[in-house]
Amino acid sequence: MTLSLAAEHAKGKAANDIIFAASKAAVAKAAEIGADKVTNATIGAILDEEGKLVCLPTVEKVLRSLPTDELIAYAPISGLPDYLEAVLTATFGTSRPEGYMAAVATAGGTGVIHHSIWNYTDAGEVVLTSDWYWGPYNVLCKDMGRTLETYKMLDAENNYNLPALKIKVNEILAKQNKLLLVINTPAHNPTGYSLTDSDIEGVIDCLKEATAGTDKTAILLLDIAYIDYAGEKEEVRKFFRKLSNLPENILTIVAYSMSKGFTMYGQRTGAMIGLSSNADVIQEFADINQYTSRATWSNINRPAMKTLATVYNNPSLLSAVESERDFYYKMIKARADLFTKEAQECGLKMLPYIAGFFLSIPAKDPAAICDKLHEVNIYAVPLAAGVRIALCAVPLKKITGMPAKIKAAMDFVEK
Ligand SMILES: Cc1ncc(COP(=O)(O)O)c(C=O)c1O
Repeated sequence: MTLSLAAEHAKGKAANDIIFAASKAAVAKAAEIGADKVTNATIGAILDEEGKLVCLPTVEKVLRSLPTDELIAYAPISGLPDYLEAVLTATFGTSRPEGYMAAVATAGGTGVIHHSIWNYTDAGEVVLTSDWYWGPYNVLCKDMGRTLETYKMLDAENNYNLPALKIKVNEILAKQNKLLLVINTPAHNPTGYSLTDSDIEGVIDCLKEATAGTDKTAILLLDIAYIDYAGEKEEVRKFFRKLSNLPENILTIVAYSMSKGFTMYGQRTGAMIGLSSNADVIQEFADINQYTSRATWSNINRPAMKTLATVYNNPSLLSAVESERDFYYKMIKARADLFTKEAQECGLKMLPYIAGFFLSIPAKDPAAICDKLHEVNIYAVPLAAGVRIALCAVPLKKITGMPAKIKAAMDFVEK
């Protein structure tokens, strides 16, 4: 037996990250035969048509021109005040919902998910999300002694599956007093799916019905990590208005991340925004999450927060960032359009893609398909129920022919 000095709860934990493993294999192959011969569709960051990691130029300019004090000083634990104000505009645009709200700075969107699980569920409780989900949700739940359960995200017609959500919500609330429901929209990872405004209304109604007249509570965690690549800026934010004045026993938390919108992935900056019709709930939200920040990472990245605040307080910088981002949004869209067209031509089924960094192909044996694709130097991420393709990282010229190769690998594996 191997020696273990770890605490009981920590024993046996190892982050076996399939995404980084797949990426590592692609990088090794590129080193061997040349990057131009390898299609690395594993990376969750924007690479341009030359395969270079993109940094929005104006973001880089603002970050690099900050005075030294702003680069090195501590920030307040709950975040720089000008950042916290600007983050509300970055999140909601002109669709700011009515109600009490507070923002707390976090280490990326991941930090929001961490604090939400820790502070709004108890040990042993269940957290709910859809069956297609971003793997770290499960890692975060497990690390804190919670269990992630899922409902089927899409019905047979590929519409959002509200009936499946309702069944699961009621099942969980029959066993526990509070429910944390995580929904990643718009431009969902890994499928590129977005809930419609009426789907969001359906989710809210479901939570209202399940908690009305009871002492049960629901926390709706909206993970909007990809909102800046989801479509027209104000159009994709309209659904936020539906969150106005919800009953007191429903708290909404929005997970904002600078990782994609500002191409600042490694700078680890985000914010959690709490929204409620009750002032006490929001005061508590600000207090307990600031406390958990102090107890987890203390304060976060000051220069990244200052960069966002500087951009949002200067209309010309903001419009420059938005037009630079729009250029890359269109670059990803062109890749998605070509993939979709070729997939249709060769009969490769995809899950409904609306926008975003990724699309997914449903499959019975995703790992075997990904292994087979290595023979033609294509690297993708095998998920439980399909193969994830990172459109954000694959130049248009390498998209050409890719659906047919995936279809051939699938036919071979599933024959
Ligand atoms: C669905 C989803 N949520 C949240 C995040 C959070 O990212 P970060 O912690 O870098 O802000 C990501 C990043 O890949 C993601 O894909």
